[in-house]
Amino acid sequence: MSDPLITAGFTKMNLPAARRHVFLCVGPDCCVGADGLATWEFLKTRLKQLGIPALRTKAACLRVCRGGPWMVVYPDGIWYGSVNIERCERIVAEHLAANRPVAEWIVCAQPLAAE
Ligand code: FES
Repeated sequence: MSDPLITAGFTKMNLPAARRHVFLCVGPDCCVGADGLATWEFLKTRLKQLGIPALRTKAACLRVCRGGPWMVVYPDGIWYGSVNIERCERIVAEHLAANRPVAEWIVCAQPLAAE
C-alpha cells in the first residue's frame, strides 16, 4: 500500500494482529438505539482494556431487524442476539479472549463458505 494515510489507518486499527472482526448492530429496528450504542461503547472500551486483537465495526443494520442488538463474530460466523452490556462482557471474556463461544446465546453459527 503506497498511500501513507491508508497505511496509517491499517496500523491504527492493528490490522496485522487482528484475529477476529466483530460487528455490532446498534439499531434502530432491532433494538432501542440508546441500548445498542451503550453496548457499542462498552465493547470498544473492553476490547481496548483487555488488549484483544479484534477489529470492531458499528453496524446500522445486520438485516435481522428484531431481537437485537445483534453481534456477529468473524471468521467464526457466530451470531448473538439480545447483546446487552452484561452479555457483551461475557462474550468478550469467553469468546474473544478465551476462544470459547458462549453456546447458550448463539442464535446462528454459519461460517462463510470457502470457495
Ligand atoms: S436494525 Fe439491527 S439488524 Fe436491522
